Amino acid sequence: MMSEVRLRKELQSPLRETNLAGMGERETGKVRDSYKQPGKRILVTTDRISAFDCILGTIPFKGQVLNQLAAFWFEQTRAIAPNHVLDVPDPNVMVVAECEQLPIELIVRGYITGVTKTSLWYNYERGIRNYCGNLLPDGLRKDQKLPRPILTPTTKLEAHDRPISREEALAEGLITAELFDAAGEMCLRLFDFGVRYAAARGLILVDTKYELGRRNGQLIVSDEIHTPDSSRYWFADTYATLFAQGADQRKIDKEYVREWFAARGFRGEGVPPPMPDDVRLEAARRYIQSYETITGREFVVTDEPVEERIAANLQKKGYLQK
Ligand SMILES: Nc1ncnc2c1ncn2[C@@H]1O[C@H](COP(=O)(O)OP(=O)(O)O)[C@@H](O)[C@H]1O
Ligand SMILES: [Mg+2]
Repeated sequence: MMSEVRLRKELQSPLRETNLAGMGERETGKVRDSYKQPGKRILVTTDRISAFDCILGTIPFKGQVLNQLAAFWFEQTRAIAPNHVLDVPDPNVMVVAECEQLPIELIVRGYITGVTKTSLWYNYERGIRNYCGNLLPDGLRKDQKLPRPILTPTTKLEAHDRPISREEALAEGLITAELFDAAGEMCLRLFDFGVRYAAARGLILVDTKYELGRRNGQLIVSDEIHTPDSSRYWFADTYATLFAQGADQRKIDKEYVREWFAARGFRGEGVPPPMPDDVRLEAARRYIQSYETITGREFVVTDEPVEERIAANLQKKGYLQK
């Protein structure tokens, strides 16, 4: 783990946004800045953190952690499912094949948990027993393992994610049955791989969100996979004891930040309270730990200003447009 001094220094100069010249038209998401070039997209992962569908501030080095973790998982899963990666020219940047995104996101869940409005536990606690077409028995407890992983899609490209079942998605004409089923199977295969890989690292992959797209008629995995932003991870060794006690799981994911906001009454409505530096630092430590635990590699940072480094790397690798 890097020094506290280096980590603290980054509090003052996180990668909040980019304004890269000559890289194409910029489109800003909650976390990533995309630059669009013919047939491809330069995805710059910034240090912005979003939860409850809102941008809540920045976490030092979060962008690098996410980009490098996504790159790692895409590499590991290439044989299981084709993905959009073309190049990783900088620690914060992935060049990807532009694809036509499916209008739904597919979430796979192995456990019942979560504090956000689209979380399984949040809904179950409020009496919901049919969630996105999955029938749930009475008597489940928070953080309990489900008999088998379930698929809980949400709509994409709407103001807020809306949970939806396979039947509703078909009835609304969002997607064909063939495409839905092919996408669902792909996600379950990826999740199964992720669960087994994480277990070998002492982690439980609890749940995760996938975004799939189509490129030349082929279904491919896009966006990010199995990162702490798109997934929950718990430590495996303490799972059973904590579950038996009804205590919170030890986790390495952005649930730490979600819970900090939820504890202050913020779940997406109104103005989020400002995140204090000690919360940003703790979140950063957790993000970095997630990278090191999952990949088994040391997290290495550079000292130059990040946006300048990105511009130099992109230029060097030929992405500057005339
Ligand atoms: N290969 C791809 N082709 C087209 N769009 C993509 C691809 N990969 C990711 N995207 C889109 O790029 C954006 C990434 O930015 P992000 O900050 O994650 O956005 P969001 O706020 O929607 O989560 C998302 O809208 C995502 O759907
Ligand atoms: Mg996103």
